[in-house]
Amino acid sequence: MSEFSAQDRKFMQRALDLAAKGQYTTTPNPSVGCVLVKNGKMVGEGFHFKAGQPHAERVALAQAGENAKGATAYVTLEPCSHYGRTPPCALGLIEAGVIKVIAAMQDPNPQVAGKGLKMLSDAGIESAVNLLNDRAEKINKGFLKRMRQGMPFVQLKLAMSLDGRTAMASGESKWITGPDARSDVQKMRAKSSALLSTSATVLADDPSLNVRWDEFPENLKTEYKKEDLRQPVRVILDSQHRIQPTHKLFLTHSPVWLVSNKSRDLTGFPDFCEQIILPKENLLKELMRELGKRQINTIWVETGANLAGSLIDAKLVDELIIYVAPKLLGDNARGLCQLPNLTQLADAPLWQLNELEQIGDDIKLTYTPKGI
Ligand SMILES: NC(=O)c1ccc[n+]([C@@H]2O[C@H](COP(=O)([O-])OP(=O)(O)OC[C@H]3O[C@@H](n4cnc5c(N)ncnc54)[C@H](OP(=O)(O)O)[C@@H]3O)[C@@H](O)[C@H]2O)c1
Ligand SMILES: [Zn+2]
Repeated sequence: MSEFSAQDRKFMQRALDLAAKGQYTTTPNPSVGCVLVKNGKMVGEGFHFKAGQPHAERVALAQAGENAKGATAYVTLEPCSHYGRTPPCALGLIEAGVIKVIAAMQDPNPQVAGKGLKMLSDAGIESAVNLLNDRAEKINKGFLKRMRQGMPFVQLKLAMSLDGRTAMASGESKWITGPDARSDVQKMRAKSSALLSTSATVLADDPSLNVRWDEFPENLKTEYKKEDLRQPVRVILDSQHRIQPTHKLFLTHSPVWLVSNKSRDLTGFPDFCEQIILPKENLLKELMRELGKRQINTIWVETGANLAGSLIDAKLVDELIIYVAPKLLGDNARGLCQLPNLTQLADAPLWQLNELEQIGDDIKLTYTPKGI
């Protein structure tokens, strides 16, 4: 029998709903929610909004005031135990007189990992962990992957026709999917720490690779404010130094990191543009390690068939997101991804369908790699 009651589940659901509100803003921090309950009634709640601002527990404790004494805290991630920009939340809970703490999951951050819960038990506070763990993992998949593997969570986005084509033979590709799917892409970009693309795609399409409030889904506009949205870092593979300061990328003031194996003179580029120099060998994997070091939690990839294939081949894709438009483009149109090393059906990479959603006239499919 579970050690958790239906009431525990209800309050943790609420804490998780609160945590989800932070997912557009907290990077590089995790999204965390907290609910304080006393005598079956909620006396305080809160979520972490942005790095440098109070953690969820602190927000909930401030709201509860004196009522925190004797309360149970439901937290979506183990309370922190280290002095960062703010003092440890475990200590805050102890000082406020909370008597029990239930965490949805342990924090894999080596600075915390079990130490927060230990701090609580050392102070005589009852604690329990692993309630609605699956949902808690989902909310912070980027932060958790970076903490566990030192690399960001990679989401590869592709938009295609019913027959798996992404552009006409001429390269014409605007637009395969409808406005609602493109609006969904804006939402996905806004949740990401960084976007990844290539000079080939920038030269072909001259994209801005930014988050545009005007194109944000209407239902989210009531929940978030324009000034809350962050512009993700743009990471562009450009070994041949083909990106120029005149590209539209530079009209948005958020970092652009140009990746190559050799450095170039960046005179004429805005000061938010810098370069990442990496050896050619295993460049994509090395890039992910470097982005992990730079505290990038999630990467949203918008690119052509070449890089899409390379990332799949290198087993670097954590989630494949395909928008399917109800159009047929025919055999002369361009394909979805290049997998030149693949010769036998038995070796075809396999994917597990996790979500299926209709967005306007299009379908959004979300897959994770299967087996291996
Ligand atoms: N349907 C969609 O969702 C979608 C999205 C975006 C773009 N597109 C279309 O895609 C087309 C461009 O596609 P493309 O296939 O020519 O190019 P691409 O996939 O965008 O980029 C190819 C470039 O990626 C880099 N790259 C690939 N594999 C690599 C590896 N293993 N290691 C290091 N770098 C690697 C190289 O960049 P460098 O040599 O420059 O370093 C290579 O030249 C455009 O026409 C665009 O419209 C479609
Ligand atoms: Zn904390």
